[in-house]
Amino acid sequence: MAILKILQYPDPRLHKIAKKVEQVNETTRKLVRNMADTMYAAPGVGLAATQVDVHEQVIVVDVSEERNQLMAFINPEILAASGEEECEEGCLSVPGIYETVRRAEKVTVRALDEHGREFTLDADGFLAVCIQHEIDHLRGKVFVEYLSQLKQTRIRSKLKKRLRETF
Ligand code: NI
Repeated sequence: MAILKILQYPDPRLHKIAKKVEQVNETTRKLVRNMADTMYAAPGVGLAATQVDVHEQVIVVDVSEERNQLMAFINPEILAASGEEECEEGCLSVPGIYETVRRAEKVTVRALDEHGREFTLDADGFLAVCIQHEIDHLRGKVFVEYLSQLKQTRIRSKLKKRLRETF
């Protein structure tokens, strides 16, 4: 079990673009396990490799109440999106900030699992929101970037101030 360090917004490394995983192997599976440990310990409902400073297209999600339905998506791609939904989101890289974001209500995602097997998933509701939020991380996008410039500036100064108080 390994808990990885989660990058905190506005760390510029959160804006790196993740590369595709060429081959799903033991290194990938170890990353998935460590990311899952980190997500559960935080606790959170999703984590992208970008957030632990690994710039490969890997995300983990678990939206179950029992915290026993881990899903790993490697090289995830949104094939279809429909509807609209507003949901209050938070992020382990933006602690203590919760803001409403508008996203697609339903998505169809294609990805590889931790054994390299391709699967397609139709997701809606909170799961769909989580998947879109995590895929954004792989593209270097943090959810606060959907907010107004004014709000983003306020959030950045709040987090920087908090960071100064910690050290
Ligand atoms: Ni996030």
